[in-house]
Amino acid sequence: MTDLAPAQHRHSRLLGVGSYLPANRVTNHDLAERVDTSHDWIVQRTGIEARHVAADGEFTSDLATHAANSALKAASVKAADIDLIVLATATPDFTFPATATQVQANLGIKAGYAFDVQAVCSGFVYALTTADAHLRAGLAKRALVIGAETFSRILDWSDRTTCVLFGDGAGAVVLEAAHGPPSKDQPGILVSSLRSDGTHREKLYVDGGPSTTQTAGHLRMQGREVFKHAVSMITDVIEDVFAQSGENGDTIDWFVPHQANRRIIDASAQKLGIDPAKVVTTVDQHGNTSAASIPLAFAQAVGDGRIKPGHLVLFEAMGGGFTSGASLVRL
Ligand code: ACO
Repeated sequence: MTDLAPAQHRHSRLLGVGSYLPANRVTNHDLAERVDTSHDWIVQRTGIEARHVAADGEFTSDLATHAANSALKAASVKAADIDLIVLATATPDFTFPATATQVQANLGIKAGYAFDVQAVCSGFVYALTTADAHLRAGLAKRALVIGAETFSRILDWSDRTTCVLFGDGAGAVVLEAAHGPPSKDQPGILVSSLRSDGTHREKLYVDGGPSTTQTAGHLRMQGREVFKHAVSMITDVIEDVFAQSGENGDTIDWFVPHQANRRIIDASAQKLGIDPAKVVTTVDQHGNTSAASIPLAFAQAVGDGRIKPGHLVLFEAMGGGFTSGASLVRL
């Protein structure tokens, strides 16, 4: 990998995926003892049955490190061979330094560089696209792309309209730069599309931060408003990657969407003409883990043998910002 051709003649290949969930599993019934809610209400509105919550003293970087180690193992790549870490999170360990640099230290990596990406629930697709661009530009050769969150730390546990929706977890993939441009039938990231629209800030945000309140703040959401925009933003960005690639709902093998809400996932797949049998869904067991949700779902479907080498996989996300993104990847 020392004599790569010019940037336009590279692409990124996805070598392996891994994930990690904290041990503490919290069911809807557990939550119903804490706030005025019910298992049936949560399942009917969201499809969520349980989520995992990080232990005291277990940080986003810890979850990310576990997921990274599992991805490295799956990819048969040593930590020492990684020269780029892009970590998507909205719940960093500290305001700075970047949580990615803590993961770099945890993994004993001395080479290359590491930084965080903040696009909330779209974070994994943003991080994947960013790492792909860095590899194609020749800035690095092998990347860890991680989505890791401890959303339990920014929830208002007295607000039943939000606290039932989210969970903690992490997922990671290993990418490697390879010769030649992306090619339809060869393994690699084929196309990606990213969008944001900052005018929707008040619909989904955290009411704190270093520059405003000097506190971490709590998640605030107008659920109905988010729901109203979600399906059209998701389908717009996917239609863009379909148009760029010539693929469509019939030609993809798997749809691995951000896991926010079962109803949003089903409505998006239906609008795009994607067979429900191709949709990977983990929101029932994980809740919404923001930037971690896609690699968590992807790891599950690779691990149980559904997603195989050669398959064409569509990732999609939408979240606070409003941000959205989609990537098409041939394994
Ligand atoms: N348990 C019981 N009742 C509840 C709960 C709860 N946990 N939360 C709200 N309610 C009540 C409300 O108070 C309201 O009662 P009222 O009619 O007496 O006023 C009633 O249920 C209906 O509330 P709505 O907010 O209108 O319920 P809705 O059907 O819209 O479902 C939900 C709410 C699940 C949040 C939905 O709007 C949604 O999924 N929105 C998308 C939000 C999302 O997924 N965000 C994730 C981040 S963004 C992303 O990842 C894409």
